[in-house]
Amino acid sequence: MAKAMAAALCFVTPVLSSFLFVGCAARPFYPLPSRFPGEIRQPLQTNRPYNIAHRGSNGEFPEETLPAYKRAIEEGADFIETDILSSKDGALICFHDVTLDEITDVGKYKKFANRKRTYEVQGVNITGFFTVDFTLKELQSLRVKQRFPYRDQQYNGKFSIITFEDFIAVALDAPRVVGIYPEIKNPVFINQHVKWPDGKIFEDKFVEILKKYGYQGSYLSKNWMNQPVFIQSFAPTSIIHISNLTDLPKILLIDDTTIPTQDTNQSYWEIISDSYFNYIKKYVVGIGPWKDTVVPAVNNYILTPTDLVTRAHAHNLQVHPYTFRNEYNFVHFNFHQDPYEEFDYWINTIGVDGLFTDFTGSLHHFKKWTSNLPPKDDDADEQKASDLLHKIYLMINSYRSP
Ligand SMILES: *[C@@H]1O[C@H](CO)[C@@H](O)[C@H](O)[C@H]1NC(C)=O
Ligand SMILES: *[C@@H]1O[C@H](CO)[C@@H](O)[C@H](O)[C@H]1NC(C)=O
Ligand SMILES: *[C@@H]1O[C@H](CO)[C@@H](O)[C@H](O)[C@H]1NC(C)=O
Repeated sequence: MAKAMAAALCFVTPVLSSFLFVGCAARPFYPLPSRFPGEIRQPLQTNRPYNIAHRGSNGEFPEETLPAYKRAIEEGADFIETDILSSKDGALICFHDVTLDEITDVGKYKKFANRKRTYEVQGVNITGFFTVDFTLKELQSLRVKQRFPYRDQQYNGKFSIITFEDFIAVALDAPRVVGIYPEIKNPVFINQHVKWPDGKIFEDKFVEILKKYGYQGSYLSKNWMNQPVFIQSFAPTSIIHISNLTDLPKILLIDDTTIPTQDTNQSYWEIISDSYFNYIKKYVVGIGPWKDTVVPAVNNYILTPTDLVTRAHAHNLQVHPYTFRNEYNFVHFNFHQDPYEEFDYWINTIGVDGLFTDFTGSLHHFKKWTSNLPPKDDDADEQKASDLLHKIYLMINSYRSP
């Protein structure tokens, strides 16, 4: 901040004071450490399926908090993923549930006790403390906790809700190129409850923020490679609306096929048809299906895969299923309680293009060990070491008798 103000002063004061002008002109301008030019940062890998850090590394830290996102970046995320909702005063925040009850301490404040409401959300009446009834400042005063009881509870009450802009800053400050994967969450509900000036809607504000931070360009364009982003939504009308505002790549999320969409009241069964893929592929680069839609499961055993991936690929649509979790209660028995076997199946048998996971570190290790990138990236030294080991192994073997 101090640097930025000093720089601004340089432009407004030269006519007033030549001393200041000289002083400023002599001051060298270094790039801010947080803003490496794209070319010196290690680029996004595009050679293997994307590692999408679902709500950050929420297997370790409370979801969608700064530590969860920073940890995901340390662990090798290609993209950090988040859900965007709105506060009462129209600030976009990173938060998954429309209500604060489950993963914040909102219930303990007397001053908020009268904020409890019942609203209809996607055809269901929900009672609780809704983000849309709290200002950003109030939301930031709350503390977040771990959603699942069997995960590390030691960080409960330590971290706050962050804004969409805080989230973007984490990605832009990363020491390598890290993409973002924000969702336009519950757009019908948000637009019912929050009004912005000039008739702007939730989706407009969402795109405005991306543009403010320089996100632009189609999939794999030079601009996109510098600041990669996938925009995701379960609502087809949101995707189509923002297609008029930005050519950034979009992903249509697919829920359980029996569930209707929140906006067009279509079943996802209809949405995974070939004719719908033909229509929607003008707007999206891929789909993000619930993984049981790709490989159904019964009694914790997977069944025969559907043809969803084959058909999506035939329409040149990527497939990024959700959500991969290491814990035994999510890993199907076919995989012998081994998350690596599950990754192997989805990457090498099903052939997906990206995976949403709560455990980015595990997916990154799996990919490094099974499909190392070509030399010239972060794994190059490891590749050399493993080549050398392989040669030594061959030498030793050649001395062994058969
Ligand atoms: C939700 O509650 C309101 C008020 O009680 C009622 O009119 C409405 O039908 C309910 N909606 C659903 C989906 O149950
Ligand atoms: C997108 O822009 C075109 C051309 O201006 C317009 O006809 C169309 O209605 C717009 N679509 C949406 C979803 O706003
Ligand atoms: C959505 O579609 C279902 C089935 O076609 C229909 O019964 C229901 O009334 C529709 N709901 C709305 C809100 O249009």
